[in-house]
Amino acid sequence: MKQLRTLEDLSMTELEDILEAAGQTSFAGGAFHAAANLFFEPSTRTKYSFEMAEAKLGMHRFDFSAEASSIEKGESLYDTLKTFEAIGVDLFVIRHPRARFYEELEGLQVPVINAGDGAGNHPTQSLLDLYTMKEEFGSFRGLHVVICGDTAHSRVANTNAWILKRLGARVSYAGPDAWMPQEVSGGRVLSMDEAVEQADVMMMLRIQTERHDGRVAYTPETYHRRWGLTEAREQRMQPHAVIMHPAPVNRGVEIADSLVECRRSRIFKQMENGVKVRQAVLHFLLQSKGADRVETIS
Ligand code: CP
Repeated sequence: MKQLRTLEDLSMTELEDILEAAGQTSFAGGAFHAAANLFFEPSTRTKYSFEMAEAKLGMHRFDFSAEASSIEKGESLYDTLKTFEAIGVDLFVIRHPRARFYEELEGLQVPVINAGDGAGNHPTQSLLDLYTMKEEFGSFRGLHVVICGDTAHSRVANTNAWILKRLGARVSYAGPDAWMPQEVSGGRVLSMDEAVEQADVMMMLRIQTERHDGRVAYTPETYHRRWGLTEAREQRMQPHAVIMHPAPVNRGVEIADSLVECRRSRIFKQMENGVKVRQAVLHFLLQSKGADRVETIS
């Protein structure tokens, strides 16, 4: 692995190695490594779980604020990163509102981890989702994952649908017609009532209001009644089925408040797993940069 801009940067073996390594407890440490975390969009989980993962690996962390940087004086993203590269940073973690922002960074020597690019991709979220499903079900083959809600504007939905189909899972969608992905190849659109009865995993999504250009399509109550995972719908899920959500959650909108922490919910488990998976990703990227400087996972 040289970069992690989308999951297409990983071979299937590398992907399996990350999911396997995330279950280990002993990672590289000791040598000096530095990460620069550049978040141009708000984040709680991704930003701080990367920071925790970096801290657990003994890495130094540069926390970047665009407002307090020379970007305010017109410096480009590329030149900002070249500066960090010159200073000696080992890798970048970047979240940016522009889809495929990484395409303008081809001249960098230092690996880039995409922490979310607009409505494009969110590879480490997807890896932690896969890890959580593997922990729950053991394998992806035949697993029926229903992605529910604002699929069209969700980078999580994009990445998960792509990789889950490659891994042999069945992906369906539920939600308002206008928010279904343009291309639902290999996936079916279900009503919420069909979805809850058929899913092994109900993957709920927040309404991505920041990508709706100010248009308000539904009141929270209307949305919850029509497209939300209500308490009544949860009662009709299969006994073994689980609820996932990348979060942040809007309680009472896409999911009933009481279901966020119910016995089926893996939402906080996903966050816990995020640290492990990000540690594994950082480990492998550092390892591929300079194998001599990183101890092997044991
Ligand atoms: N799931 C996720 O990306 O959350 P944050 O926006 O808080 O990082």
